Amino acid sequence: MALPPHPSPTPLALADLNALSEDAFAAHFAGVLEHSPHYARVAARQRPFADAEAAARAFMEAARSGTPEEQLALIRAHPDLAGKAALAGELTAESAGEQASAGLDRLSPEEYAEFGRLNAAYHEKFGLPYVVCVRENDKASIFAGARRRLGHTPEQEREAALHEIGRIARLRVLDLIRPPSVS
Ligand code: GUN
Repeated sequence: MALPPHPSPTPLALADLNALSEDAFAAHFAGVLEHSPHYARVAARQRPFADAEAAARAFMEAARSGTPEEQLALIRAHPDLAGKAALAGELTAESAGEQASAGLDRLSPEEYAEFGRLNAAYHEKFGLPYVVCVRENDKASIFAGARRRLGHTPEQEREAALHEIGRIARLRVLDLIRPPSVS
C-alpha cells in the first residue's frame, strides 16, 4: 500500500531559518530537491540569506554544484509526470500537489496515452524523465514543452532540466519561508 504523503513543514521566518542548526535546516528543506535531501545541507552553508529569493538561489546553485553524473542523478530522481508513481499514489507530497495543480491527475484516457508516449520517447532519447516546473505551466504548455524538448541535444536537455529543477526548487523554497509581515 502506498504511504500517505508526509505533510509539508510550517513556513518559518527568514531570521529563524538563518539561526537553525544545519540538521534542522536540512530537515525543513528536505523536500525542495526531489528525493535529494542532501542538497539542503549545501544550501544551509550559504547562510545567512538576505531574503527568500537568496535562499531560493542557494538551492538553484546547489542543484548545479554536482559533477555531471550527480546532475543526471538529480534529474533522474524525478518521477515521470502522470506516470506509474502518480497512478500508484507513490509521489512525494510536493510532486503530487504540483502535478494536481496543472490537472495532471485528471487527464482523459487519450491525454494519459499521449503522456505515456511522450514519456517513453523522452526516456528512449535522453535516458531521463521529462522534468518541467508544472506550477509555471498548464497542461497545454507541458505537452508542447515535451514535444519541443524532444528536439534537443543531450547537452541542451540536461541544461533545460536543471533550469526547470531550479524553478521547481524556487517555488518550494518560497512556500517554506514566511513572508515578512506588512505593518
Ligand atoms: N515538475 C514538478 N515536479 C515534477 C516531478 O515530480 N517530476 C517531473 N518529471 N517533473 C516535475
